[in-house]
Amino acid sequence: MSSQHILLGVNIDHSATVRQARYRENPLDRGRMVEPDPVDYALAAQRAGADAITLHLREDRRHIQDSDVYRMIEMIQVPMNLEMAATDEMVKVALEVKPATVLLVPESREEVTTEGGLDIVTHRSRVASVISAMKENGIATSLFIDPDFAQIDASAELGAEYVELHTGAFANAYYGPDMEQELDKLKHGAVRAHEAGLKVNAGHGINYANIKHAREIPWVHEMNIGHSIVSRSLFVGVDEAVREMKALMNGVYR
Ligand code: PXP
Repeated sequence: MSSQHILLGVNIDHSATVRQARYRENPLDRGRMVEPDPVDYALAAQRAGADAITLHLREDRRHIQDSDVYRMIEMIQVPMNLEMAATDEMVKVALEVKPATVLLVPESREEVTTEGGLDIVTHRSRVASVISAMKENGIATSLFIDPDFAQIDASAELGAEYVELHTGAFANAYYGPDMEQELDKLKHGAVRAHEAGLKVNAGHGINYANIKHAREIPWVHEMNIGHSIVSRSLFVGVDEAVREMKALMNGVYR
């Protein structure tokens, strides 16, 4: 459905990657110059029209730190989407922070499906218990999955509000002969998810070139885009980078 209005969730992780490259060993709370601040990046993205902010608190804390998550929820006005593994440690953080949405992603090899989404079929009971803990606290759950019917159906059965379809295989295939096939899988997956009553998000590897085709995926509520926007903002600034992507997502070419 190319006439749909797709929302943009800006994933700000890589602003923290740049900070960590210089300040990994330094405490972040002593009033010294520590840059860039991912909260400032998120606020700039919000001013430019980001509809949501996504950040991934990884177990190894390679980019986003716990303090970023707690500061972020106090500062942003748009919904926060907290990307995390389905572990007890992360559930505890989510229940304290109360983001609008948690986005469950695989963190270890065993949790990954062939293409790299979370394997809901294998990890059914764990995922079900996280979904119900979130529901009790007014937090919606999104499951990052491959566009695979078994994964989609399991996500609906477990009562997730959203799935985020993994667009990585499509992005990797973009300049090769399998692009159309990967795009078709996403299109069919989106229809299946929509018909099962799920809200459909999409993300991973979407950029200023492949968005032209990614936006053809029907029923997409929101796309989560990080690397490409953070990279482009080095050249044109956060404001222009976000505005340009929003325009491309919704078919407005300038
Ligand atoms: N969605 C999920 C589940 C992700 O893990 C990532 C990468 O952090 C993204 C979207 C954004 O991917 P990219 O940085 O390639 O835009």
